[in-house]
Amino acid sequence: MRIGVLTAGGDCPGLNAVIRSVVHRAVTAYGDEVIGFEDGYAGLLDGRYRTLDLNAVSGILARGGTILGSSRLERDRLREACENASDMIHRFGIDALIPIGGEGTLTAARMLSDAGLPVVGVPKTIDNDISSTDRTFGFDTAVTVATEAMDRLKTTAESHQRVMVVEVMGRHAGWIALESGMAAGAHAICLPERPFDPADLVKMVEERFARGKKFAVICVAEGAHPVEGTMDYGKGEIDKFGHERFQGIGTALAHELEKRLGKEAKPVILGHVQRGGTPTAYDRVLATRFGWHAVEAAHRGEFGRMTALRGTDIVMVPLAEAVTELKRVPKDRMDETESVF
Ligand code: F6P
Repeated sequence: MRIGVLTAGGDCPGLNAVIRSVVHRAVTAYGDEVIGFEDGYAGLLDGRYRTLDLNAVSGILARGGTILGSSRLERDRLREACENASDMIHRFGIDALIPIGGEGTLTAARMLSDAGLPVVGVPKTIDNDISSTDRTFGFDTAVTVATEAMDRLKTTAESHQRVMVVEVMGRHAGWIALESGMAAGAHAICLPERPFDPADLVKMVEERFARGKKFAVICVAEGAHPVEGTMDYGKGEIDKFGHERFQGIGTALAHELEKRLGKEAKPVILGHVQRGGTPTAYDRVLATRFGWHAVEAAHRGEFGRMTALRGTDIVMVPLAEAVTELKRVPKDRMDETESVF
């Protein structure tokens, strides 16, 4: 069999672990040939690829990023790919394509599968917002980085009697904010799923100061919004990939709180540091298992599906099911912590 693999969309820790696992299983168990397309779907469209043998993936398990490079695909180019799907199979002689990516990548994978490409998807995203899988790799690493950052910010906040507003990633789903906020004991967590009122945050901080706790850490997801009319914060325009350009809720909220409280409030934007560096052991294991199962599915001819974690098992689910809606934080998970505002 000849297997093509690519990584697309925003990178995340664990991508190299999947690539390595695909190569190991395909080469050692089946004697397959594996090729890696460069820079996501762009490499597939432009015919940029290289052979991945055991030596090519040696030493990459713990390395962050992706050795293949990644990019987001513009809609026009996706249409072009779908129209040329059968040509691409012949051109590269591939029997299976394994795209590793988030919602956008898996939606493209589904379209390519519908157009006739033999696709087995592997879900990834630090946001953990893909339906049909309990977890995506990268998420555990992002939560660990954000938790450690808030642990550190707490001590300096306390020394200076400050409010720290820590902005973490999460466009539409607040899983990173929820779990890192819980793990770090943040005093407030603001999620995209529930608009917050800054007046409630002011009250929380004032109550803490009144009982002698003269600092606070507020964890806010980048996609969180205030209740309309409670604070000056607009919606951003939509970019060419269909994503809202955020206006910087962490900075806006810190300024708002400083103004209302008359106390120092500092924004800390964790940004891409959450996506960089070595994956945690959990993410390495999940990524490795996904890669192994993707190769097995390809050999069974189970196309149009993706690997998913259910409980502790890896199962194959239809791509169509995985991309219909995003997995957002449900109300009962918010209710489990009094910190969600
Ligand atoms: O989807 C993963 C993610 O890290 C989001 O949390 C974040 O909003 C986005 O990617 C950032 O994308 P970019 O790397 O293009 O700035």
